[in-house]
Amino acid sequence: MPVTIEQRADYPTLIADAARVVAHEVREAVDRRGTCRLVLAGGETPRALYERLAAPPLCETIPWAHTHWFFGDERWVPHADPRSNAAMVERALFAHLAIPRHHIYPVSTDAANPKAGAAAYETMLRAAFRSSDAWPVFDVAILGLGADGHTASLFPGDAALAERTAWVTATRAGSPVPDRITLTIPVFASARFMLVLVSGAAKAASVAATLEGPRDPTRWPAQATIPTSGRCVWFVDRDAASKLEQRTNRP
Ligand code: 6PG
Repeated sequence: MPVTIEQRADYPTLIADAARVVAHEVREAVDRRGTCRLVLAGGETPRALYERLAAPPLCETIPWAHTHWFFGDERWVPHADPRSNAAMVERALFAHLAIPRHHIYPVSTDAANPKAGAAAYETMLRAAFRSSDAWPVFDVAILGLGADGHTASLFPGDAALAERTAWVTATRAGSPVPDRITLTIPVFASARFMLVLVSGAAKAASVAATLEGPRDPTRWPAQATIPTSGRCVWFVDRDAASKLEQRTNRP
């Protein structure tokens, strides 16, 4: 599916508009299917979006009781560690809202090792989706993008990029935590709706290479996570869009 690029002049507008779109997609999913399953990214830019979702007036428009929250990746640290994605989303979003706690599915990082942790999360996902389908279908997937082109914890050149059977895998990456758990490319590519959120000039080259460069998903993993049949919107600020050739949607 083609990617829609929404460019915004500045960071506050980027976050506000992206949050409004996520809130709309959640309402749509709940209206159509009675529930909305979201899969979240870590990182500072997604965190700002979560904080916006948790704040009035937007938080008053979201049917929280019908939402289920999963993680697209996790750093292999205890949840008490501030680098944990579970800890970040708890602070930014869950702590402020009446989301049933059994609707929140963090990646447990107290297994013996990341590989065991990945297997455990996959078991939990399969139970939560109660699906015999090849892949879980998330209603809303939120991803960020690293300056090196990584998304979730799918890093350029990593063996995890070739995984086409498992839903979850362990991988080793850069900073701030090398050992990671990540959902695999086919899972992200099965999403009904994906929003990728990117800010800053440091990512302009990765945005342009991913969206306009030659197809090379081993170097640019976010080319492969674009939903096969679902909708995909990239929200980028002016700096992150600065190396794009194509015209982008502007408000
Ligand atoms: C993580 C994320 C990662 C993040 C990007 C963007 O666990 O770190 O899942 O993929 O979304 O690196 O992060 P920033 O918005 O902080 O640059």
